[in-house]
Amino acid sequence: MGDLRLPKAGTVEIVPSILSADFAQLADELAQVKAAGVKMVHLDVMDGHFVPNITIGPPVIAKLRKHSDLVFDSHLMISEPERYAEQFVEAGVNNLTFHIEVAKRPEWLIEKLHGWGCTAGITLNPGTPVDSIKEIAPLCDMVLVMTVEPGFGAQPMMPEAAKKVVQVREMVGPDIRVEVDGGINPETTPIVVGYGADTLVAGNAIFGVGDRKAAIEAIRKAALIRR
Ligand code: DX5
Ligand code: ZN
Repeated sequence: MGDLRLPKAGTVEIVPSILSADFAQLADELAQVKAAGVKMVHLDVMDGHFVPNITIGPPVIAKLRKHSDLVFDSHLMISEPERYAEQFVEAGVNNLTFHIEVAKRPEWLIEKLHGWGCTAGITLNPGTPVDSIKEIAPLCDMVLVMTVEPGFGAQPMMPEAAKKVVQVREMVGPDIRVEVDGGINPETTPIVVGYGADTLVAGNAIFGVGDRKAAIEAIRKAALIRR
């Protein structure tokens, strides 16, 4: 199963989010984006409590793991990340990102994740100040800046939330990935890359269109435009 680790910082990675994929054909959807050259896929986990929507959990991820050698970048939009994290690692996620708004013992969880051989990400909602992650971010492998309110795909990027990437990049330096999630498409990509994001989650812009390869290419090209 190849090298299933978060790629080292220093490259721009496009990370398709399965939220807009056909959930009845997930293995095939993953194969399609893999063929288009991506290294990672973003798995959105929602509990109907932290966010007003419900998606998938460890059993589905464990089955998918058998069909894909993409790096599984999981985004846990759930209320008790400490309680469920180990199940996700056992199911085969390679990176686990949890929300600062609900984390009770973030340092403990990051240490556990590293011990289980999983990289750790911390994320914050559009309304959560960057200051809230200043102790935690340096311990992580990735910081995810939500550029929409979590819960649903295909929302427009919130420009003020995207600007937080500048502050986050300043805070973490060049060696920690800064991921953005929500409303990423060929038009918004140059903006967030200009702010310092290097890990671009895109759901609707990739799985919402017929030709996934062309969609990924368009974002890749847009990432080269400097604003
Ligand atoms: C939103 C999810 C995102 C979502 C992004 O709550 O965390 O990962 O799939 O979707 P788009 O790219 O469609 O805005
Ligand atoms: Zn997400």
